Amino acid sequence: MIDTQTIRIQQTSQSRIDTLDESNIPFGQLYSDHMFVADYTNGEWKDLRIAPYQNISISPANSALHYGITIFEGLKAYRNPQGEVMIFRPDANAKRLNISAERMCIPEVPESLFMEALTELVKLDNSWVPSSPNTALYIRPFVFGTDEYIGIRPSQNFRFMIITCPVGSYYSQPVNVKIETEYSRAVEGGTGFAKAGGNYAASLYPAKLAQEKGFHQLVWTDAKTHQFIEESGTMNIMFVVDGKLITAPTSGTILKGITRDSVLTIARDWGMEVEERPIAVKEIVSAAKEGRIQEAFGVGTAATIAPIAKIGFEEDTYELKHSDQGKFSSKILKELNDIRTGVIEDRYGWTFKV
Ligand code: COI
Repeated sequence: MIDTQTIRIQQTSQSRIDTLDESNIPFGQLYSDHMFVADYTNGEWKDLRIAPYQNISISPANSALHYGITIFEGLKAYRNPQGEVMIFRPDANAKRLNISAERMCIPEVPESLFMEALTELVKLDNSWVPSSPNTALYIRPFVFGTDEYIGIRPSQNFRFMIITCPVGSYYSQPVNVKIETEYSRAVEGGTGFAKAGGNYAASLYPAKLAQEKGFHQLVWTDAKTHQFIEESGTMNIMFVVDGKLITAPTSGTILKGITRDSVLTIARDWGMEVEERPIAVKEIVSAAKEGRIQEAFGVGTAATIAPIAKIGFEEDTYELKHSDQGKFSSKILKELNDIRTGVIEDRYGWTFKV
């Protein structure tokens, strides 16, 4: 157990909180006043500290810069009607960080260290947690190698940091996605299930090509056959077809999304038919052609629930209708928001009060 006394706190003398305009919060541009830092040397996490948010200094031979020895998480804190701050499912992020860590030869971050660091940081910067509808404090824990060594080997020294930023919507409008059948995001045996920086770096070029054709994001398919839907760029993907909620099963190539799990749990509790199974591209394309896709949406911490407006496949683009306000994605977004902001009872024990 990490004793909070061991986290040294150096408070900023110049808060930037007055630069926060809750009516206009672009994603990931304004960071809160403080950051958490810990260093791993000689097999131990040491020198736990919270300092004013600032640039850091690393060697030009840093192992993360050269070889992508870096993992991250994303979670959010919300303000409830009583003004208290609640973090959504932080224990799940702590566990997933360590799943990513193992794959990337990064040492475990003890769950107690993760939770204490998170709690102390969010407590200190609690005025940065916005309260307007559809806003939150996005929390970004990350770990990276700090060896000054350009040979290939697992890093021996690491840094664990947490930064936070108030955010509004990640996507300001329904997204247009293209089913990708040439490039791949992940292969069996690779790092697709991990939140490893390199997964995102490798996705940028194919995503850029799709953006040039008017799409916001890709829908990745399996690397071997390109016949099965996997996930989308910043989120897992779900469909409502013939009244059933369908999503791909998580595997070695698909991120085990925490929002994904929350949506599936609630949908099952509501008595909805849920199928976690391989989804053939041709099934989605036929359903789209026949107008049987009632809904398609992305689910993720940053993206929340992101309705999909158009699906592109090969040379065709299929437009989905999103006019029915009673539809599942709106209903689940409201339910999740109400749980996360304490408007309704948290019957799953997902919220953690700071
Ligand atoms: C998140 O949803 O927290 C993510 O990590 C997606 C990110 C790449 C913006």
